[in-house]
Amino acid sequence: MKYFSVVLLCGVLLTTCKNPPQEQSHSKKKLGMVTDSAMVVSAREEASKIGTQIMQQGGNAFDAMFATEMALAVCYPFAGNLGGGGFMVYRLADGKTGALDYREKAPKAATRDMYLDKNGDVILNKSTLGGLAVGVPGTVAGIFAAHEKFGTVPIDQLLAPVIELAKKGYVVTKSQAQRFANIDSIVTAVNGKEILYGDHINVNDTVQNKALANTLSRVVQYGRSEFYKGKTADSLVAFLQRHGSIITKEDLAAYKAVWREPVKFTYDDLTIISMSPPSSGGITLAQIMRMIEPYALESYGHNSQKSIQVLTEAERRAYADRNYFLGDPDFVQIPTDTLLSQLYLKDRLSDFSFEQATPSSSITYGAIPGYESNETTHYSIVDQFGNAIAVTTTLNGAYGSKLYADELGFFLNNEMDDFSSKAGVPNMFGLIGAKANEIAPEKRMLSSMTPTIVEKEGKLWMTLGTPGGSTIITSVLQTILNVHEYDMTMQEAVDAPRFHHQWLPDVVLFEPESFEQAVLDSLKAKGYNVNQNQSPIIGKVDGIKVLPNGKLEGGADRRGDDAAVGF
Ligand code: GLY
Repeated sequence: MKYFSVVLLCGVLLTTCKNPPQEQSHSKKKLGMVTDSAMVVSAREEASKIGTQIMQQGGNAFDAMFATEMALAVCYPFAGNLGGGGFMVYRLADGKTGALDYREKAPKAATRDMYLDKNGDVILNKSTLGGLAVGVPGTVAGIFAAHEKFGTVPIDQLLAPVIELAKKGYVVTKSQAQRFANIDSIVTAVNGKEILYGDHINVNDTVQNKALANTLSRVVQYGRSEFYKGKTADSLVAFLQRHGSIITKEDLAAYKAVWREPVKFTYDDLTIISMSPPSSGGITLAQIMRMIEPYALESYGHNSQKSIQVLTEAERRAYADRNYFLGDPDFVQIPTDTLLSQLYLKDRLSDFSFEQATPSSSITYGAIPGYESNETTHYSIVDQFGNAIAVTTTLNGAYGSKLYADELGFFLNNEMDDFSSKAGVPNMFGLIGAKANEIAPEKRMLSSMTPTIVEKEGKLWMTLGTPGGSTIITSVLQTILNVHEYDMTMQEAVDAPRFHHQWLPDVVLFEPESFEQAVLDSLKAKGYNVNQNQSPIIGKVDGIKVLPNGKLEGGADRRGDDAAVGF
């Protein structure tokens, strides 16, 4: 009942709320934006507004997805993209669920050892910078696949406001200007010249992207094939090959987004629907949640020593499994049933004791009968018809490979680094891979993206996700627990301080100055390697929760420029 009386109106027709959220005075609960029936929460207000406008014109969540995703490519080039890929999980108003994989693929000419020197050592930066780092992009195929199956509004109508945004420009925020400055020298080095983005852009400048407006106008005219077979494809392949890429026209022409069965599991009275491989998100989230379910987290308290211990130990074991067993399901056999079975997971955590940390060196993957990183971006949408989607999309690193196709107006991903270049050698997220995630032609690299929808007692309850590389899974986990176990609002849940553990390296990352010193001291005394320096922020969660009265509450993470917009 505590939610009923608060409706925050920041506008007349569109309700917009940039974080930080408003304070609900009478109950001291901090509620995010509340709207009646539809909402988009994304990394930029402009993108959330465009998605919402599409729904106001009668479009549904999938129409809004198309427009929001492309708007992020315009005004959030850090991770919004045409040159990357992503995953979408959906739940229709009638309860049907599904998932879309538009992850990048290795080019046909890719080889297992393509990033190793003659001694078999990984060559620094080869999988992260420039042409060889680029995987075959999937984003345009993804939004067209979603639109073909569920969309109702014509593409020209969806892209009109996006093209206008690209032509008229968007106003640069403080954090964005800082990021442009940060990448200036590396982007100039990789591209061999200055590009549209760099330290010449200041806060409050307006950035227009006419090249991207032209690319999108051609997509309106010729459809999906413009990107994969048309003039855009020709220009893209020529550009990539000039920069050392092995991607060919055949690679682009062969790309397909794939509909997948999402991972579905229960936790108390919740049903969680999350992304299946080639993302590790759903399986790893399910493993962690099933391991921790028997523990009385609520009574231990939020971010208490005991809660942190239980989560960390479950994460340690789940990430060890992730790194060994998971990969592209079209290439490797994943023992999903065993990995998610109660018996297996009970056994996995059976050696945990509150007395002492389990050293990661003593943990390996289970026996089967079979850092700060905010690259990537997530948006959540609920429409006025009751459909919900969770979409996480990425270039991998910030601005991906740093290669910017200036004729086309977008960055290219460095998703090839999400493969395991060499077994046992960590990638940019410190994740150690194994054979299941080794490089092969046309294979999809393992992801941690965890777009997730949660039902409570069979009804839509929440849609959420986050950027953050390997910290994505643990950020989604903590946000769900914050609401379910610790009775937080959606906004409080996304804002709450987070910690992260991923088996190796054997450290627990904490957001600095956010946790009680006594808790950190007692964790250290028990053998946990506490680190507050490496992750100034962990994740940037954007979610929507359905309130008991049917209205929607947005949680737009305070850590970014994120904004909820709806009606
Ligand atoms: N590129 C980050 C991920 O897919 O996990």
